[in-house]
Amino acid sequence: MINIEKDYALDQLNTFGMPVKAPYFSVIRERADCSSLAANAPEGLPVLILGGGSNMLFTQQPDKWVIKNEIKGIELIGEDETHIRLKVGAGEVWHEFVLYCIAHNYCGIENLALIPGTVGAAPIQNIGAYGVEVKQLITKVHYWDIEKETFDYLDNKDCRFGYRDSIFKQELKGKYIITEVEWQLSKTPSLNTSYGNIKEELDSRQITQPGIKDVAEAVIAIRSSKLPDPKVVGNAGSFFKNPEVKNEVYEAIRAQYSTAPGYKVGQDKTKIPAAWLIEQCNWKGFREGDAGVHPKQPLVLVNYGTASGTEIFELSTRIIASVEEKFGITLEREVQII
Ligand code: FAD
Ligand code: EPU
Repeated sequence: MINIEKDYALDQLNTFGMPVKAPYFSVIRERADCSSLAANAPEGLPVLILGGGSNMLFTQQPDKWVIKNEIKGIELIGEDETHIRLKVGAGEVWHEFVLYCIAHNYCGIENLALIPGTVGAAPIQNIGAYGVEVKQLITKVHYWDIEKETFDYLDNKDCRFGYRDSIFKQELKGKYIITEVEWQLSKTPSLNTSYGNIKEELDSRQITQPGIKDVAEAVIAIRSSKLPDPKVVGNAGSFFKNPEVKNEVYEAIRAQYSTAPGYKVGQDKTKIPAAWLIEQCNWKGFREGDAGVHPKQPLVLVNYGTASGTEIFELSTRIIASVEEKFGITLEREVQII
């Protein structure tokens, strides 16, 4: 029997620290709990699944049955000479899973150290950092289909992974509960240290022959120096995606701003750091009341204490409008607005 609590405070369960209350709140701890949800739904309410609450902004009191996913477990399900396969409960904490892999010398996930949240949320926006995305490592995503009331799974190719995107953010949005994710990791390292300043960080530590632990530690150091800690100041990481524009659009910006950064994506497109666009519009370090734009990383909107979700959302709308006016580029929000 699933335990249901009423008027449950969620301020500690979302990294923006929004002081909202769930009308009803429950925790699921095993896969089988999913199948008893429909029969127990208070007032027939739909569910809102909560992982670590690190990619959502509550702009109103939730009007759903909030279900926190704490399905745990790391199971070795396959192994050959070069790879191992793991099935991991959706409620495992992401960074702890990364540390587990490093401790067991399972390679390929080390660049994704210190990303907040849960394993189950990782496929939803195909989390990525420092040149690696989880789509390179996921083999299957298991889920409970809320409408059909059945367990099902998708293979990697059917998840339609894209940059901060997947089928779970699109067609399947709101229709599933991810229960476990399967991973394939290498037994031998193939380090990716070309992104950002990982190499410089390793050099500064005088590490000439790094292992996966060294790379993870370098990533942790870089991330800690750039991104605000949600325990100290409320935020949900990058609030916007980095826009991908046609090469001509980027070239036109370059003609005006010779230092405009851009990274080729395939043949026709260039990814422009949204942080740069936002900084050019003079938002870096902006603060109004307790809603602000982080002074070191303008892609991150912050709650300095008592900002409301609406204030943060309205600030994001103003930023989108000014980037659109100056550059003709429409930024897309990455964070899930609730
Ligand atoms: P939540 O915020 O709890 O949920 C996000 C969405 O997924 C919601 O819509 C929720 O309903 C849904 N959901 C969650 N779990 C399930 C489930 N099991 N089944 C069905 N639906 C579910 N992201 C990156 O990609 N790269 C980064 O480098 C990065 N850095 C960050 C740094 C900081 C400081 C912060 C605060 C965030 C950062 N993020 C980053 C964003 C965030 O960490 C990821 O999006 C993460 O995957 C969210 O996990 P979560 O468990 O907190 O999801
Ligand atoms: N930049 C500025 N001004 C700044 C900061 C950055 O102009 O104040 C420009 C610089 O040109 C810099 C570039 O932005 O080179 C990129 O900055 P950074 O390396 O910090 O990465 P990002 O593009 O801002 C992305 C992800 C992060 C991820 C990092 C590292 C998105 C939306 N964000 O940020 O993911 O950790 O790369 O790989 O793709 C998240 O999704 O929540 C997130 C934090």
